[in-house]
Amino acid sequence: MSATNDLLITNEQVLTALKRVIDPDFHKDLVTLGMIKNVVVTGTVVAFTVELTTPACPLKEEIERMCREEVGTIPGVSEIQIEMTAVVRANTGKGIPTQQALPGVKNIIAIASGKGGVGKSTVSANIACALAQMGAKVGLMDADIYGPSIPIIMGVEDRRPEVDEKKEKMLPIEQYGVKIISMGFLQPGGSAVIWRGPMVAKAVQQFLRDVEWGEIDYLIVDLPPGTGDAQLTLAQAIPLSGAVVIMTPQDLAAAVAVKAVAMFRRLEVPILGIVENMSYFLCPTCNSRHHVFSHGGGQQAAEALDVPFFGAIPLALEIGSEADEGTPSVVASPNGPYAKVFREVAERIAQAVSIGARTFVPLAMSK
Ligand SMILES: Nc1ncnc2c1ncn2[C@@H]1O[C@H](COP(=O)(O)OP(=O)(O)OP(=O)(O)O)[C@@H](O)[C@H]1O
Ligand SMILES: [Mg+2]
Repeated sequence: MSATNDLLITNEQVLTALKRVIDPDFHKDLVTLGMIKNVVVTGTVVAFTVELTTPACPLKEEIERMCREEVGTIPGVSEIQIEMTAVVRANTGKGIPTQQALPGVKNIIAIASGKGGVGKSTVSANIACALAQMGAKVGLMDADIYGPSIPIIMGVEDRRPEVDEKKEKMLPIEQYGVKIISMGFLQPGGSAVIWRGPMVAKAVQQFLRDVEWGEIDYLIVDLPPGTGDAQLTLAQAIPLSGAVVIMTPQDLAAAVAVKAVAMFRRLEVPILGIVENMSYFLCPTCNSRHHVFSHGGGQQAAEALDVPFFGAIPLALEIGSEADEGTPSVVASPNGPYAKVFREVAERIAQAVSIGARTFVPLAMSK
């Protein structure tokens, strides 16, 4: 070893330095949080791994920079090698008996809305693809039994899931790194389903359990719109970690978003946050934002309901047409402005799931 004794760098020194790095979300240091792995000191070179709770962590670069800065204060260090990895932790939500949870599936996130046509399916597909692109293991379940549109948006409408005869399980269809299952796969010809209440709940539970999901970090569930009986039973049938409510900027939509939030609170499903869709028009030529509708509805609704606001997605012809063609924007134009917005929203959702920062109103208080 070439370093002299007083320059000898120890693992303890490295850990002491990293104890000064506070995770902005968890408000504790990385060592205490168990996020530092494999510290190896070779002469003056320090190497270690930072294990985040999601590959979609929006603070990844900042955390790496802070680690570099603190370890850099140790005298004699010539080089710092940091490997950033992630292991998603399971969050099965409050009040979900473990036997009801899906084996292998760590987090189930419902995408919901108070009314139809707000872009739930479009947002679900883009979020799922964005999380997969960032390295997460993602599933996408189309639970919209009345109008399944995920197969079209994901470009798999002509495919059917294969069946593992031995296990008697359905294998999800893989597209863009996402495992997809749709209630639409079960009803060729698109005949309208007229299941009601408990039947829906039973069918969906059975359906979920009959799928061989494998290992999934995030299962995104596109729920049918509205807050009626069917939606209620459906939301109850799936062991959700939390729900994301999509709304459009109009005041009217805000009122329906409030209804959707109230429904999940009644069911004791944590509300992860609100996404505003078709929020503003991003001019393709001048790249400036034009607010077609009244502005800030999503943000205001989120504040009033005391839930996080995950961001606003612009109204853009491409978002609609790319989805119609079976390639969500994050896949069709990964370097475009819309992909960037969807990625940011996906990161915030993953972050909220990681933190478990969930608004939870006990049953007795929700009415
Ligand atoms: N940000 C956007 N900009 C432009 N068009 C969009 C945007 N988001 C969604 N759309 C379009 O709006 C229509 C409704 O979207 P989508 O089907 O995703 O909504 P939904 O809430 O799932 O509807 P439903 O209630 O019928 O399930 C689609 O034609 C879609 O392509
Ligand atoms: Mg839909």
